Amino acid sequence: MKEPTFLKAMVQKAQARRVLEIGTFDGTSALAMAEMLPDDGTVITCEINPGLANLARKRFSRSPHGRKIEVLVGPALETLRNLTGPFDLIFIDADTENYVRYYQRALELLPPTGMLLLDNMRGITLGPVDRSRDPAVGAIGQLSQLIADDTRVIASFKAVRDGVLVITMAPDDP
Ligand SMILES: C[S@@+](CC[C@H](N)C(=O)[O-])C[C@H]1O[C@@H](n2cnc3c(N)ncnc32)[C@H](O)[C@@H]1O
Repeated sequence: MKEPTFLKAMVQKAQARRVLEIGTFDGTSALAMAEMLPDDGTVITCEINPGLANLARKRFSRSPHGRKIEVLVGPALETLRNLTGPFDLIFIDADTENYVRYYQRALELLPPTGMLLLDNMRGITLGPVDRSRDPAVGAIGQLSQLIADDTRVIASFKAVRDGVLVITMAPDDP
């Protein structure tokens, strides 16, 4: 399945109105998610590269769903500090080395019914690797251990593009 199709299905499943994305690039995923939102739905998408942000904005301006999307330019870790939740769905697709930090902040911004999608997680299926050779691989390994030990969440791996980890909040114990 192509990733935009998968993202559309996840927006529907989460019944999302407010979506947050880390990593805009040319706007393909933001636009796919915006298409599935109600008229008053919003996607906030974070992009570090001003040129790419402008490219995406131009693309959004040509779509009837583009008005639902706001591009915030800057390092996403800084941008996230100033955002207020809740977001029904958060899609993280940039800056892999900082995935642990994005995960921690995302859980603060999600409601109990929210959904977190982490892209580029195929590394968790590879077993032990030499983490010292690639900080991004090390970050994925660290995050997968953190999630495995985190009793607040339920995680499932989807074989979409480079592997997407779907995180939802675990129900409270009775
Ligand atoms: C894999 S692409 C995103 C693709 C997009 N989500 C899609 O599927 O259409 C990652 C993007 O994140 C941006 N990026 C990298 N580091 C970032 C950071 N620290 N903060 C915000 N954006 C960042 C890159 O410039 C790039 O455009």
